[in-house]
Amino acid sequence: MRTLRTVSEVRAALAEPRRAGRSIGLVPTMGALHQGHVSLIRRAREDCDEVVVSLFVNPAQFNEAADLAAYPRDEARDAALAADAGADLLWAPAVHDVYPPGFATTVHVGGVSESLEGEHRPGHFDGVATVVTKLLVAVAPDVAYFGRKDAQQLAVIRRLVRDLALPLRVEGLPTVREADGLALSSRNARLSPDDRRRALALKRGLDAAAAAATAGTTDAEALRAAALAAMREHAVEPEYLAVVDPDTFDPVADVNGAALVAVAARVGEIRLIDNTLIGRH
Ligand code: PAF
Repeated sequence: MRTLRTVSEVRAALAEPRRAGRSIGLVPTMGALHQGHVSLIRRAREDCDEVVVSLFVNPAQFNEAADLAAYPRDEARDAALAADAGADLLWAPAVHDVYPPGFATTVHVGGVSESLEGEHRPGHFDGVATVVTKLLVAVAPDVAYFGRKDAQQLAVIRRLVRDLALPLRVEGLPTVREADGLALSSRNARLSPDDRRRALALKRGLDAAAAAATAGTTDAEALRAAALAAMREHAVEPEYLAVVDPDTFDPVADVNGAALVAVAARVGEIRLIDNTLIGRH
């Protein structure tokens, strides 16, 4: 696996495979790779001839300076994991490679980016949409892979790709979880042992909502109440807990078809998110 820094290096490295008609898969990451990322890279390896993993801690999508500063960075470890999972190229640009002096463009995806994460982390999705556009334009992959844990991010990226008619397929892969159900996240490593136990509140809340839905409850308020009660058993209050349409992220009052229950909560210092699909899907 080769490590590249600049957009020109990426284009040069992919020119020959592209000419030869080889398919290109891109797995965008911010590093601190875990088994969730590994599952994306492995899937890209199965689907595509060339697998590119990007590793860039994108300052534009952090709305808290402390969160950006605390974000784990270990390129050597990430490179070893990416290579092991089957990546051919690691694109690990510096901030000035992605945002050179004078950079003045922001990509804003309306609608789906406005609620939940968009409301609680102002500017976050503009940062995500801008950097993902830059990555997609530089690599020009046939397929790009994202995790469903960041369900709203996935919906924003699908909207972006559709609206700009970018010629690629977006694959959203299932959330990978610890044995007890906690969704894998680069942030989990920063939980204290006590907060690690309390962090299960998110999954337990989602499970309670899903169980109520399976038992026939369709009223979103009743589903929220079931989730909230389960979360409170772990002494965790959600920042938001919502039943939404999985594509538009508009609120759903009564679940007839598929709906997504999405939750965010601070456990100690660490902000976590998770979601589950309920209803007919
Ligand atoms: O999900 C992430 O790790 C990031 O938001 C992404 C898609 C790599 C953009 O920086």
